[in-house]
Amino acid sequence: MVFDRAPTRGGAERAVPNDDFVSLIPRLIRAALAGDIRRVEAVATQLSRRMRPAYPRVAQSVADTLAQQWAGANPLRTAGLLEPPVDEDSRLSLVAVEEPALELAPVLSDREIGTISRFLQHWKERDSLISSGIRPATSLLLEGDPGVGKTYTGRFIASELELPLILLDVSTALSSYLGKSGHNLRTVLDYARSSPSVLFLDEFDAIAKRRDDPSDIGELKRVVSVLLRELESWPDYGIIVAATNHPELLDKAIFRRFDYVLEIHRPARAAREALLRRRLGEFVDGEDVSETLEVIAGLSDGLSAADVCKLADRAMRRAVLDSAELAKCLFEELPGMLGEQTSATRGRIVRAVRSTFGDKVSIREIANWVGVSPSTVHHHLHSGGREGE
Ligand SMILES: Nc1ncnc2c1ncn2[C@@H]1O[C@H](COP(=O)(O)OP(=O)(O)OP(=O)(O)O)[C@@H](O)[C@H]1O
Ligand SMILES: [Mg+2]
Repeated sequence: MVFDRAPTRGGAERAVPNDDFVSLIPRLIRAALAGDIRRVEAVATQLSRRMRPAYPRVAQSVADTLAQQWAGANPLRTAGLLEPPVDEDSRLSLVAVEEPALELAPVLSDREIGTISRFLQHWKERDSLISSGIRPATSLLLEGDPGVGKTYTGRFIASELELPLILLDVSTALSSYLGKSGHNLRTVLDYARSSPSVLFLDEFDAIAKRRDDPSDIGELKRVVSVLLRELESWPDYGIIVAATNHPELLDKAIFRRFDYVLEIHRPARAAREALLRRRLGEFVDGEDVSETLEVIAGLSDGLSAADVCKLADRAMRRAVLDSAELAKCLFEELPGMLGEQTSATRGRIVRAVRSTFGDKVSIREIANWVGVSPSTVHHHLHSGGREGE
């Protein structure tokens, strides 16, 4: 067995069994000299864990240093001295920076919210992960249709972690920085990694388009590989959330770079009802629309969360401007939000209006709301739902 020298309390050294942690030292030095912070952190984390049995105090000191690194804010930016980067020629801002605002949790399925909570837990309990020699998860790829809440979730994460949110639209960045994309992108990444933050990479699939484009062999391709490399060496005190509407464009190698990948779906019925309730909030105080919200939630299948919010907003505006009942306004606005509908859907709406309001709403009104003739309304009411459902 190989022995090593370890300091005793009095400063003398005693022989202790040498685990293989010494072999990590050259790797640590190589990573440090290459300026690869992420690698330094990863190797130092392992070093701390492996040396703990023989050198508990030194191991703890390494763990403390890592924890400080993860928690430490750059004093320049907290003092407001580091302004968000701008394009040198146009002076236009390269990123949008938002200070954390209090955001309510997005309305998502239990499974989706579970993944996000787990991801947040990594940051919140990173000290215990680090002292156990485990690197906390710091990157999350969100995929899903427009309006399902990807950006909202990014804001929520920043708000929960009380970190600033740095928003970079990758697609615009890659197309508008032509010629100096490399320089600008690096400026943005340097800014983001200068202190703890959530870097939100929107339209992340733009990367894949550039990577695969055979006609594009120059600057942009190089920039894209810079960005992908950065993802791997991102410091653990920073969070990266990327969002895409087109996950099919991303290859496996890109997915692998993320600690978590979460597909956000369009809201199910219960989530649609919760979204309506939340959005209408105090507006519905004193007005009993519970039953209507349930019915509207049932009829709005296929809408994104953003569309459900928009439906609530439109109905509230109409209710105020027309001094009308909110329940009616919701039904009036629903067909417009649903877009092109099948006859079966129109039939369901017509019958729901009738069963909610009875004779208080005329056939003509229903016809106007749904955008069909009064005779079609008659037909729907008397077919009892047999029109091709
Ligand atoms: N799951 C959700 N819970 C609560 N509100 C939501 C949710 N999804 C969307 N919204 C509302 O809709 C707005 C728009 O959603 P958001 O911008 O997050 O969608 P997105 O998935 O980023 O869409 P895009 O792909 O078009 O960028 C949000 O600001 C929020 O008000
Ligand atoms: Mg978005």
